[in-house]
Formats: sequence, C-alpha cells, structure tokens
Amino acid sequence: MDVISVIRTKRDRGELGDEQIDWVVDAYTRGEVADEQMSALAMAILLNGMNRREIARWTAAMIASGERMEFSSLSRPTADKHSTGGVGDKITLPLAPLVAACGAAVPQLSGRGLGHTGGTLDKLESIPGWRALLSNEEMLSVLDGVGAVICAAGDGLAPADKKLYALRDVTGTVEAIPLIASSIMSKKIAEGTGSLVLDVKCGSGAFMKTLEDARELASTMVGLGTDHGVRTVALLTDMATPLGLTAGNALEVRESVEVLAGGGPQDVVELTLALAREMLDAAGLTDADPAKALADGSAMDVWRRMISAQGGDPDAALPTSREQHVVTAPASGVLTRLDAYDIGVAAWRLGAGRARKEDPVQAAAGVELHAKPGDQVTEGQALMTLHTDTPDRFGYALAAVEGSWDIAPAGTAFTPSPVVLD
Ligand code: URA
Repeated sequence: MDVISVIRTKRDRGELGDEQIDWVVDAYTRGEVADEQMSALAMAILLNGMNRREIARWTAAMIASGERMEFSSLSRPTADKHSTGGVGDKITLPLAPLVAACGAAVPQLSGRGLGHTGGTLDKLESIPGWRALLSNEEMLSVLDGVGAVICAAGDGLAPADKKLYALRDVTGTVEAIPLIASSIMSKKIAEGTGSLVLDVKCGSGAFMKTLEDARELASTMVGLGTDHGVRTVALLTDMATPLGLTAGNALEVRESVEVLAGGGPQDVVELTLALAREMLDAAGLTDADPAKALADGSAMDVWRRMISAQGGDPDAALPTSREQHVVTAPASGVLTRLDAYDIGVAAWRLGAGRARKEDPVQAAAGVELHAKPGDQVTEGQALMTLHTDTPDRFGYALAAVEGSWDIAPAGTAFTPSPVVLD
C-alpha cells in the first residue's frame, strides 16, 4: 500500500476501501506516514467527505490503534457525556458529580481547549493541586471510590486520534463531520462506557454552525456508538450565545461551584439537568432525581471528594486576574445578541486558551458577562469584564468583542433561543 494512492483516491472524490483505511491509520500512528501526507488526506476528507461505511471503518481503525478500557468490575452502571465544544461550556464540572450522586459511575475522559473553545482539563487545573494525569489504576480507584472521575485520556487510548487531533488543529481541518465524529467516538468507545450522551453544539461558537450540520454530526455519532454496543443519544444545544456568565478557566470553576451549591445561571442549571436526565435514563437509572441531588448538597459532596481524590483542595481560593478591563454598553435598550464565537476568541486572546499546542494557559484569564440576551441594559453600564494577567492582551480581546452584541430599543419584543434545540 502507498500513501499517495490513498490521498489521490480521496482527492478525486473516490471511496476509500477498508484495507486502505486500516493501513493509513496504522501507518500514520507508527510514523510511517508523515504529518504532511496525513494533512493532505485530512484536507481531502474535509473537502470531499466520507460515506457511513468509510467513517465506521476509520473509527474502528482509530480504536484499534490503542488499548481498550474495561469497567466491568464496577458495581454501578457507567454513563458518560461528551460535548462537541463551545464557549463557557463548563457543564462537565457540575454534571459528572451530579450523575454520580444519582448512582451512576461517570468516567469522564476530557480534553484541553481547542481553538476558541475551552477545555475541561484546563479549567480544573486552576484548582490548586488538582491533577489531570492519572494512571489507569488511579482512574479506576477514583471512579470506584467516588463515583466520578474527570481526567486526561491515557497515552494508550486511541493514539491515532491524539496525533491526528493535534495535526487538524494546525492545518484547518477540524470542521469535518467524518473527522470530528470518528475522533470523539473512537475515544468514547475505547474508554468502555456502557452509555453515552452527546451534547452536539450548534451556532457561531460551535464547530457546527447550522442545525442541519449539527444533526448530521449527531446522527453519525449515534450510529457509530450504537454499532459498537454503546447506548448513545444526542441533544442538539444552542451555542450562538455563551453558556452562563463566564468563559475562562478559574472563572468557570467558580460558576460551576455556584451551580453545585444550588445557584448559578439558569441556562447552565437547565442544561446540566437535561443532560443528567439523559445520562441516567441511558444508564437505566430512571428513578433518580438530579434536581434533588443538586438541591440537597449530595452532588456538591461528590464534587469535593472527586477534587480531593485527584490532589486538589476544594476549599482553596481560586486564582484571580491581575488586571481587569470593563466594557460598557454604548446605548440603552434590550440586549438581543451576544456572539459566542467573539466571546470565545476574546477569552482565548486574554490567555485562557493557547496559540500553540505547547503554550501554558492563564488560570484567571477570561470574560465575565454582566448581561445576556433578553436583559435590559442602560448606556454606560458594565456589559462584560475582561480578565488577564498580561494587560498587553486587552487590545486583541477588545478587537474580538467589537460588534459582538446588538442592543435594540427598549420595549422591543425578544425571545431568547431555547438551550436545548432538539
Ligand atoms: N472534540 C474531539 O474530541 N474531537 C474533535 O475532532 C472535535 C471535538
């Protein structure tokens, strides 16, 4: 087999055969196919697509590139969720302990920020002492003892995806349905969860901008999970507006703790409960009541034990930014739009995300919102506060948020988009 013929097949809109797919994924993982060759193939896939058979085979080849985990020793049913990525999407933080408090085991293998979207591990690392890297034995022991674990996928799990994910991030080949679906599902199937709820984001701050594309991605992933014996369901959720009132690492941890304490922004609470109900249903725990577990403090108890079990101090003060800049409303009226992508780019430029793979992130950087679509605002009132430790970044962030909102005259009728679209 030679890689040029595989690239030419897809470049010329052909269908890749099973043998071609198995070979190219394996050869890339072993380093026999070079990054520049795989980027050409990824671009051909982005431009010309793949059919369901090709996607299924590509996913199977990525799973086969590494080990598979196994949770059969656990007494509880396993439930996991995965978001396709958004701005202010801190839902995993309150959700994993909440679902564990309701009786499921939640093995939440999570990622770092990708482009303008935040990463769960970057957020949790703002808690002093907390560790994302656990051995398989440590992960199982936290899962067994606490009921929930949030950690990085080990090096042995879908190594083909690890290489390809990093390559796509720097070659403009992230937004391809076959590549996103196989990337997410290879990790989730190899992880060995019994059930999976997918939160497929749609809107400016998501990789899928239209409902049609989000639906296509969701149905592709549900099909892949089901074919591999994982009970898989998907919700299509709004990402035209940031979730909650914060985008940034420590800022989002603070907001998640508010949710676990029974408060927090209404959209974050609503989505956390909607996903919890789906996860509990998929795990067969249909009698569980996640709203009660949030209200009576049992989800907070699991959170505290989970953070401690991974070396973190749940009582430690979270980092705060050295510099802040307040952006004010230029007019009075009703806020009718706040663009998730622009806010995500601002948080990223303030230091919450990375420009290159190896860059560190700032724990305290990000954007704190003081109004959301539907709110009345008054000229001169604070719309958002930008946080960073490096004030030379304010200029880039201000350029990103310029034009990110619309204010209509007071009294204009406005209905915010629902959080769960379908
Ligand atoms: N999340 C993933 O794990 N992979 C993608 O390709 C996009 C989002």
